[in-house]
Parts: sequence; structure tokens; C-alpha cells
Amino acid sequence: MRPAGPVTSTRPPRVDGDPHSIELARGRVADRVDLVCSPLEQFRLDRPAALVVNNISMHECRDIDLVTGNVLAALEPGGWFVISDFPSPTPRRACAASPAGSWAPSSSSRPRSTTSSCPAPGYDDLLARHGFTDLGSASLTPMRALTWGRRPLR
Ligand SMILES: C[S@@+](CC[C@H](N)C(=O)[O-])C[C@H]1O[C@@H](n2cnc3c(N)ncnc32)[C@H](O)[C@@H]1O
Repeated sequence: MRPAGPVTSTRPPRVDGDPHSIELARGRVADRVDLVCSPLEQFRLDRPAALVVNNISMHECRDIDLVTGNVLAALEPGGWFVISDFPSPTPRRACAASPAGSWAPSSSSRPRSTTSSCPAPGYDDLLARHGFTDLGSASLTPMRALTWGRRPLR
């Protein structure tokens, strides 16, 4: 793993901190995306992005606040951050009593698009803490949930 400099490509960068994973991806998608081996804790873009998607990696990051701050800084005003990850491990029947925490359901009363009786997959508090707006979440499968938010327009 090496520290990342700013990503300067016009093709969408795909970032992973594991060199072996980057090598595996090189044979499959290198013609369409730029592969960048870097910890997300050092994520930088040289041009603002309209969309950043974190796919099943957030739960592995050592410092999700640092990663989220990096994403906020990389987005253009109004740009979207989508986290696709495992849902909160909290059993649905225990949602109302669960303690607050990065994996716990939100205590916020904002309406959401999720159809689950457990109201949030677990990252809306993180996004709110960093100033993201227009928060939403949805359960895709029992093992996959989306959380999204938008960088404020100003
Ligand atoms: C479940 S895999 C998902 C891989 C890929 N994002 C995908 O959609 O197929 C989780 C990946 O997160 C990467 N990862 C974990 N912590 C990371 C970090 N702090 N910075 C960058 N990548 C990280 C691991 O190397 C691993 O490849």
C-alpha cells in the first residue's frame, strides 16, 4: 500500500487499499476505470466529483469519520455520497432499544425511503455528523443496505 497523491484521471477512479485486490481488478475493469491503490483514509480527488460510491468497504475502514470527511471534501456542492454495505446487525425487533453508535439505527425522526421496520442501515448518523443533507436509506436485501447523503449546495 502506498500513500495516494491526488487522483488526476478523467476516467472514474476505483480505489482499494489492498494491492492484491487492485491486481485482480486490473484484468477485469482496467480498460474502463483507473485503479488506485490507497487507503480511503487518504482519499483525494483533484477535481470535484458528482458522485462517490463506497461499496462494501466502509465497515472495514479503521477511521470512518476521516473517510467521510475525505469524501465530503472530494464532492462538488450538491454531490452525492452513497454507502452500500451490510445493514446494522441489530435485530429488527430490538431496534427501538438499541444504543447509539455507528452500527446502531438512527434515533432521527426524519422520514426515509426504507421499507424496513428497522429505520436505518447504520450510516445516517455518520453522514449527518459531517453535514451531509438529503439523507436517505434503503434495504436492498437482508444483507445489503444503502445510505446516502448530499454535500450542501453551499
Ligand atoms: C468486501 S471488499 C469490497 C471490494 C470492492 N469495493 C467491491 O465492490 O467489490 C472490501 C474491500 O475494502 C478494502 N478496504 C478495507 N479497508 C480499506 C481502507 N481503509 N481503505 C481502502 N480500502 C479498504 C479491502 O481491501 C477490500 O478489498
